[in-house]
Amino acid sequence: MLPPFWDYRREYDELRDEILAAVDRVFTSGKLILGPEGIAFERDMAAYVGVKGAVGVNSGTDAIYIALAAAGVGAGDEVITVPNTAVPTVSAIQVLGARPVFVDIRDDDFLMDVGQIEAAITPRTRAIVAVHLYGQCVDLDPLLEIARRHGLKVIEDCAQSQGARYRNRRCGSIGTAATFSFYPTKLLGGYGDGGMVVSGDEAVVDLARSLRFYGMEQTYYAERHGYNSRLDEVQAAILSLKLPRIDGWINRRRDIADRYRRGLADSGLRLPKENDYGRHVYHLFVVETSGDRDATLARIEARGLKCSVQYRWPIHLMRGYQDLGYREGQFPVAERNARQIFSLPVYPHLRDDEIDEVIEAVRAAI
Ligand SMILES: Cc1ncc(COP(=O)(O)O)c(C=O)c1O
Repeated sequence: MLPPFWDYRREYDELRDEILAAVDRVFTSGKLILGPEGIAFERDMAAYVGVKGAVGVNSGTDAIYIALAAAGVGAGDEVITVPNTAVPTVSAIQVLGARPVFVDIRDDDFLMDVGQIEAAITPRTRAIVAVHLYGQCVDLDPLLEIARRHGLKVIEDCAQSQGARYRNRRCGSIGTAATFSFYPTKLLGGYGDGGMVVSGDEAVVDLARSLRFYGMEQTYYAERHGYNSRLDEVQAAILSLKLPRIDGWINRRRDIADRYRRGLADSGLRLPKENDYGRHVYHLFVVETSGDRDATLARIEARGLKCSVQYRWPIHLMRGYQDLGYREGQFPVAERNARQIFSLPVYPHLRDDEIDEVIEAVRAAI
């Protein structure tokens, strides 16, 4: 049987007793928001990533917004990022009143082309959001060097790359601050929405903690303009029991990726490039076709396999972002990528025989 593109229910079957016990523990504790489960999970995530502190928030989108604000970015500032990301990377910048400024991506790994950053810097630039897309890190050393020279903050968007490494450091431990999403499909997925800001800078952590809590430091007294964005106790308890398993799940994802590589080596598809400076965790296994992508997808679907496209439209060409003033042709690599790529199913509970069936269906359709 061909597997669904993604499904959490096999994981739930495996963890059901532990999850229900965790939910019951929270419900009987008398504390539903900002309690011991959240504190314990923040401590464990900070230790996992290798940073001083972590602040649980309501989503990965909020995490970006709050991390930028905590790093001192505000209305009227410019923030450099890429157009081939999930919309939330950019909407978080916009919600802050800052202006997203795009640079193109590299043709081989589809990550930010760091060589284009300097040309995009203006006197208003305050930060770079480096999106570690698909499970692999942006080349951070040259990016950090540019940021240092120009006095820019660096936010790592780790929504798709929890556990990935850049030169032996975990992603999220390298920039000014980093953000995670616990949306259910993510490498560490909750059973609802959730996100986190982490930082090695205690001042950034403290500010993020206040910003997620109406700008308060003590109850009913606002020190600054804030917001409400908190990871609830139920999600924190579930994420805590999943966190110790994530490295095993990443190994399984990498095994699945290897199986795809072997099975699709001579298929004519371009397979994901792994950079030797880091460790890919395969949130997504993204392939590129040289032909008509949508016709290929239709043939694959006719065989019973539903693939996905991350992402079909680069953000600068979306109606909702026309106000940024970009035109078609300005980011040719991101535009071509959006036309040619699609993603194969990859999640730890897929079986080898299912991967083999995916490979067979894709090869037959090509
Ligand atoms: C790269 C990236 N950034 C940010 C987000 C936002 O995370 P969330 O859906 O938890 O708000 C996502 C997830 O959709 C993402 O893939």
